[in-house]
Amino acid sequence: LKPVRIGICGLGTVGSGTFNVLTRNAREISARAGTDIIIEQVGARRDNPACDTSSSNVTRDVFEVARNPDVDVVVELIGGTTVAKELVEEAIASGKHVVTANKALIAEFGNELFAKAEAKGVTISFEAAVAGGIPIIKALREGLSGNRVEWLAGIINGTGNFILTEMKDKGRAFEDVLKEAQKLGYAEADPTFDVEGIDAAHKLVILASIAFGMPLQFDKIFTEGISAIEPQDLTYAESLGYRIKHLGIARQSDKGVELRVHPTLIPAKRLIANVNGVMNAVLVKGDAVGPTLYYGAGAGAEPTASAVVADLVDVARGFSAAQENKVAHLGFAADALQDLPV
Ligand code: HSE
Repeated sequence: LKPVRIGICGLGTVGSGTFNVLTRNAREISARAGTDIIIEQVGARRDNPACDTSSSNVTRDVFEVARNPDVDVVVELIGGTTVAKELVEEAIASGKHVVTANKALIAEFGNELFAKAEAKGVTISFEAAVAGGIPIIKALREGLSGNRVEWLAGIINGTGNFILTEMKDKGRAFEDVLKEAQKLGYAEADPTFDVEGIDAAHKLVILASIAFGMPLQFDKIFTEGISAIEPQDLTYAESLGYRIKHLGIARQSDKGVELRVHPTLIPAKRLIANVNGVMNAVLVKGDAVGPTLYYGAGAGAEPTASAVVADLVDVARGFSAAQENKVAHLGFAADALQDLPV
């Protein structure tokens, strides 16, 4: 079968993680995808010592990737909503599928980008945009597709949860832990997105749009971060039998869907109160299945790459299925000829 040729744009934490996972697990990935996934080109302003691209076709101009006729799928891992948005638009206009980890882009511009993609007959996949390595988008779309979702709630910012955990368990200072989160590649380029709840709000809007089948409405969400939390807040909460966790909550009611992100007090014995460090967890209550819980690393190179690659495998399965259908169709036509008087 024809391989799927991808262009990776952005070689930061997630870009290098994706390059490494695709290279290391190529055999398993091809088997699951039904065809090979080839890194045709890498677009990055600079190299990243975390991955060896010496045998790849590397360009400093990411737009070259979007225009490259040999690239079937553009993997947008630049982040932000300026260059990344232009790149995705250019990729769609060139008839390429897009895989992205960019929650800000999807939350703020997803409605218009999806419309453009639909008009061109291409797809935009964004599993990696929410909760890092947890396949929560696929869980909502596939595993829970028979349910009416009543509510969902989750710890969906790894940096924030890492800060709260380290402050509580080790008495470390907020700024000190944030610096470590940046060093570990957990934090956003602008870490105020993490600590002021904006990143969690982006993710919650995306989850809600899938869970409740509604457009993305980032401007409607109540957003409060963790920057005002002090060590004594965590200590007092603990002495009362509670933990402070930053949650994103989406709930369906008669009046519509309520969306909010803010710090909450959770009884210490609850599972979600014990989700620590960079780990994320999302609770989803479906009317048929009841409450379900999804847990895993919410940030970092390879956990996020795991979700990016899963989307690539989905796109590749579509490619291989389309080719197999074509083969099956030819087979049918050939059989049909036997009944014709020729
Ligand atoms: N800065 C984000 C976080 C990265 O800490 O959760 C993953 O989306």
